[in-house]
Amino acid sequence: MGGIGIGSVCDVTGSQKKRVVILGIETSCDETSAAVLVNGTDLQSHIISSQIVTHQRYGGVVPEIASREHSLHLQMVVQQALDDARLGFSDLSAIAVTYGPGLVGSLLVGVSGAKAMAYAAGIPLLGINHLEGHIYANFLHHQDLKFPLLALLVSGGHTHLILFEAHGRYQVLGHTRDDAAGEALDKVARTLGLGYPGGPQIQRVAQEGDASAFKFPRAMLESDSLDFSFSGMKSAVLNTLNSARMRGETLSVSDIAASFQQAVVDVLVQKTLRAIERTGVKTLLLAGGVAANSLLRETLEKTMFERSVRLVYPPPIFCTDNGAMIATAGYYHFLAADFAAWTLNAVPGLGLV
Ligand code: KG4
Ligand code: ZN
Repeated sequence: MGGIGIGSVCDVTGSQKKRVVILGIETSCDETSAAVLVNGTDLQSHIISSQIVTHQRYGGVVPEIASREHSLHLQMVVQQALDDARLGFSDLSAIAVTYGPGLVGSLLVGVSGAKAMAYAAGIPLLGINHLEGHIYANFLHHQDLKFPLLALLVSGGHTHLILFEAHGRYQVLGHTRDDAAGEALDKVARTLGLGYPGGPQIQRVAQEGDASAFKFPRAMLESDSLDFSFSGMKSAVLNTLNSARMRGETLSVSDIAASFQQAVVDVLVQKTLRAIERTGVKTLLLAGGVAANSLLRETLEKTMFERSVRLVYPPPIFCTDNGAMIATAGYYHFLAADFAAWTLNAVPGLGLV
């Protein structure tokens, strides 16, 4: 998260009283997104150019195509975000950009573009960790959140339980040892012929299915650790499908989808509950693309209500990759004068701590 202070470019003294206008840019995977955010909560514009249709025919994101698409769209997306906000570069306080983790080529397009724009405009650059961005999506509509917070970050690339102690201070309590929850949902969806991205498809098809039709394993629940493992759970589905195919049987896609979704949600909820019990934290933040899942939200709503724990999650559009979450995290970096150096580079394997 760190960066070299460039305080001479911008006087942040008393910045809390000033109007802080952040342009957030996100290009870590397959969405080119930009947003203009004023004072941390006033979202003036938000543009997402999704590449999903382009990658769908390949069944997943093709990195080279993703970088090229970002190059083609970034300038247009940024200009649209500024136009919608009726602002120009001269009105901005800083530009926040995702510099990792993600696809290296995709990240480089955003980082190089943001650097060029910020340098030309004479404003600071803020380097944002994508995972942090997902967590900060919750601050867009809830500035009243009080530390310590617990965050369940579930996306296509990560599954983390995080103790969020203060702005910029994180402790990873548990993480996946193999596949991320979203990755497992995507792989199972692909095997079921449901297309990419799989999470929303599994959710849609599961509505018609019986979640108790198949007993898929709930991995790592017997362990004391707060780590997750979704690879074996995914393999159990694939084995079930292969065995049925060899017997010449056809299984109900909606029953499989509903049963697998239930297994994933059960594990996520159980581990989160344990983290709540161990830390005594009273507010849970849900973040990342899988946080858009309605079964996960509903189950956590019920479980957290029973334990008097406040549950906060962003609207679905701010759960999946977006520029608004990067602008929101950028706002807090700006207040802390945590600016990036002009040498900021893409870090594809960037961790949270
Ligand atoms: O956060 P995100 O947009 O990208 C990463 O940072 O990985 O998350 C994408 C993941 C994909 O695996 C996608 O299938 C999953 O989030 N996802 C969902 C839902 N919407 C997106 N999973 C379950 N239910 C959903 N409604
Ligand atoms: Zn993401």
